[in-house]
Amino acid sequence: MSESFVLEDARESASPARDEDRRVFIKSFGCQMNVYDAERMADIAAEEGYREAHAVEDADLIVLNTCHIRERASEKIYSELGKLRELKDERRRRGRGTTLVVAGCVAQAEGAEILRREPAVDVVVGPQSYHRLPELVREARLRPGVVAADFPAEDKFAHLPISTRGAIRRRGVAAFVTVQEGCDKFCSFCVVPYTRGAEASRPVRAVIDEIDRLASAGVREVTLLGQNVNAYHGLSEDGRAVGLAGLIRAAAAVPGIVRVRYATSHPGDMSEDLIAAHRDVAALAPFLHLPVQSGSDRLLKAMNRRHRVADYLDIVARVRAARPDIALSSDFIVGYPGETDAEFEATLALVRAVAFASAYAFKYSARPGTPAAEALGQIDAATKAQRLARLQVLIESQLQAFNRATVGRRFEVLFEKPGRREGQVIGRSPYMQAVFADGPRSLIGVMAEVEIIGLEPHSLRGRVVSPAS
Ligand code: SAH
Ligand code: SF4
Ligand code: F3S
Repeated sequence: MSESFVLEDARESASPARDEDRRVFIKSFGCQMNVYDAERMADIAAEEGYREAHAVEDADLIVLNTCHIRERASEKIYSELGKLRELKDERRRRGRGTTLVVAGCVAQAEGAEILRREPAVDVVVGPQSYHRLPELVREARLRPGVVAADFPAEDKFAHLPISTRGAIRRRGVAAFVTVQEGCDKFCSFCVVPYTRGAEASRPVRAVIDEIDRLASAGVREVTLLGQNVNAYHGLSEDGRAVGLAGLIRAAAAVPGIVRVRYATSHPGDMSEDLIAAHRDVAALAPFLHLPVQSGSDRLLKAMNRRHRVADYLDIVARVRAARPDIALSSDFIVGYPGETDAEFEATLALVRAVAFASAYAFKYSARPGTPAAEALGQIDAATKAQRLARLQVLIESQLQAFNRATVGRRFEVLFEKPGRREGQVIGRSPYMQAVFADGPRSLIGVMAEVEIIGLEPHSLRGRVVSPAS
């Protein structure tokens, strides 16, 4: 990546920021994969000489990394863009140019439509094309309104720079690593197969090299990411296909890495090997986010989920047999077209049967281009809201019960950052709970044994017993 950004064209009245004070501001919406992409875009910008802008007003380059999953997420972008247009005008009056980039899944789904709705946008770039950001920004200097929203044959990962100047945002103690992209499942409600493209796994070596570099920069925990991460099947150096369990074992063996997580999994790809990894790999956190979506077999079929309620319960039983203390998490959609009261009750029954440590519930949102958006029996807003509220009450009570049950227990907490109060540090339990404790800053990056001594609404209070590693 040797090309450099040319922010200002000589013909423009607004004067360019001098190279040494070019600033970038990236705002990310949506899932963890977008967070990862934002980090990689920050790396690209760092290579191009940008420093991080602490406030959007100071940025010469602004990137909105967008999410298309539900209508509200997607529409929010346009109100953000309206504000950024005003900011851009204001900066121009002060003689500063601004390049406005829309990246992420809305960029992929809407492409040039974004430019029609908001002409202040300079570049629209999809999730599989952002490695081309420097050349796209340069192109936009000459001809604003550049769109790169195809699925290029080239592999973005092969073209992403390894930031030698150091990432703009330091990765900290816990980092994400995308290992698999896209999705071939085509659940009838979901835009991801259209916004992220076909499922593809990165080679094992590429992932492990990246984890190695992160570990050298102080990262201790990695979360292996994919829209459908347990369908991972990357090639090893000798040309064998390696599943997620194999990749987890390799990641856990990287010096410096003390904890490995993965997200998000599909019940249809929960292999024996992966379940066994929960028993055998000490560094693999006992936490599984396994979205089920509904407790009704009829709805699961309509959603094209390819699993039944019984399959899900069977997986839960097998995972718990392998790792009895595992914490389970899930996603639910309420008000899917045609959902009856009885079918919604079946979802509540499934939640009661499993007892989740946490879960996310969403009102069904009709997405353009997906089969469910055309289905008969769309549910009215009031019913959806009522069902969502009931499900959320149940989920919250299970979360509180799970947290309460950890009081008095001891487990390893990986401390990640200073707490809000002086002399406090905050980290995560193996089960993803936030834990804070009194202790020196030197605990940051350390996996310590902690006894849980109290409960706050959304975190646990702990007492450090001894540093464990
Ligand atoms: N790949 C993951 C999740 C992708 S999106 C999986 O298969 O589980 C994250 C969650 O958003 C989904 O699990 C689903 O619960 C929710 N979601 C996706 N599309 C939605 C829609 N159209 N309306 C409401 N929620 C949706
Ligand atoms: Fe969407 Fe289904 Fe793929 Fe998950 S598995 S990303 S819900 S299509
Ligand atoms: Fe949203 Fe795209 Fe992630 S639609 S949830 S940012 S894959």
